[in-house]
Amino acid sequence: MGSDPTTSHFHLLGRKKCENSGSDPITSHFLPGVSRPDQALYAAYMKLFKLGTWLSPFREPERFEGPGSALQLCEVIALLGARRILLVTDRTLVRLGLVAPLEAALRKRGVAVARFDDVEPDPTLTLVEAGHARYQHAGCDAVLAVGGGSAIDLAKLVAARATNDVRVAQMTGLFRVRRRAAPLYAVPTTAGTGSEVTIVAVVTDPVRRRKLTALDFKLLPRAVALDPTLMTGLPAHITAATGMDALTHAIEAVLSRNAFARTTPRALDAARDIFRWLPVAVRDGRDLAARQALARASYEAGFAFTQAGVGYVHALSHGFGARYHTPHGLGNAIALPWVLDYSKPACADRMALVARHCGLGAPGDSDDALAERLVAEIRAMNAALGIPTHLAALRREDIPALAAGALREARFTYAVPRYLDQRGCEALLAQMLPPD
Ligand SMILES: [Fe+2]
Repeated sequence: MGSDPTTSHFHLLGRKKCENSGSDPITSHFLPGVSRPDQALYAAYMKLFKLGTWLSPFREPERFEGPGSALQLCEVIALLGARRILLVTDRTLVRLGLVAPLEAALRKRGVAVARFDDVEPDPTLTLVEAGHARYQHAGCDAVLAVGGGSAIDLAKLVAARATNDVRVAQMTGLFRVRRRAAPLYAVPTTAGTGSEVTIVAVVTDPVRRRKLTALDFKLLPRAVALDPTLMTGLPAHITAATGMDALTHAIEAVLSRNAFARTTPRALDAARDIFRWLPVAVRDGRDLAARQALARASYEAGFAFTQAGVGYVHALSHGFGARYHTPHGLGNAIALPWVLDYSKPACADRMALVARHCGLGAPGDSDDALAERLVAEIRAMNAALGIPTHLAALRREDIPALAAGALREARFTYAVPRYLDQRGCEALLAQMLPPD
């Protein structure tokens, strides 16, 4: 490529923006050093990426919804021929009594259950291998995830590992799962990651302290249950953070340059429902209507972002998670308004689209006003949910490395509306420093 890897793709849109606005203080330093061949290569790559995604055979899992749908899914698992299933979950859910009814339903239908309840946040390669060993030892022929994104991601990789005799790390990256995975089912117990409908699984390499991503159609569950009765015990702060993760998926999917006609309407509906129902679920975790709406919104946002992609909010939040163990949803919630502030000059029209769909602003408001209103509304919701405006763990001396990591993750991956370079990203991160 020839240019600094952290500044090599800033682009097309940045150029257009600078030419149009002339004196934008943030973008004005983007273009020097970015060669035309780099920009042309980037433009060609992202167009191909979009075309490839558009042509890809995205399907959805069979979906069961409503109170009791998890038990319904257990019946379907038996009907589809599973004889011995690995139930991937965590001990908290077992202790809360959420797992036992599902195990009983499976056994009643003749499906033996082997439980793997060692799931922890940010599952590691080692944990996937442990799950695989349990699968093999018990002679399983299917996998059921019951839990949040970590459980579902781990179950995806265990299902893929079951039929692919390679180390897990060799299945990370783009389309590196060679053989069809074991039948996989999922019951999400949080409404946030959307992992139940995505083709992505994230796993941590504990030695290199890096997150690895496997992306493959073979990782998509066959069937899922969105059952709000399994979500009523979720603590308010986790409900808030996971809900903001789903809202970030929805908004980043709408703003992505790789958004499609088949993804944007569903992402917009998800954003609207999260604005409406997340404060309700945080106030009263037992509100089934709110839990159901959020489970659906998380699924819809997941459907949208697994095709349209996410953006800098996720790239930054992944860095916060790796360095400070900041929960993913919390990192997203803090970064989202700052990234939107930055992105607005390039995508006020699409931010306004989100605002209108969510019933924000007044008829006749300009796109700019609506875009600002959207950001203000996110800040207000964060405040109401007890989410801070700044990242307490963030240290000034970490900013250059965090910026470089976010840019490395985003480039050639996320079709963000407005690009950053190293200096711009550092300036953005500095806004998130806790006040002295
Ligand atoms: Fe996310």
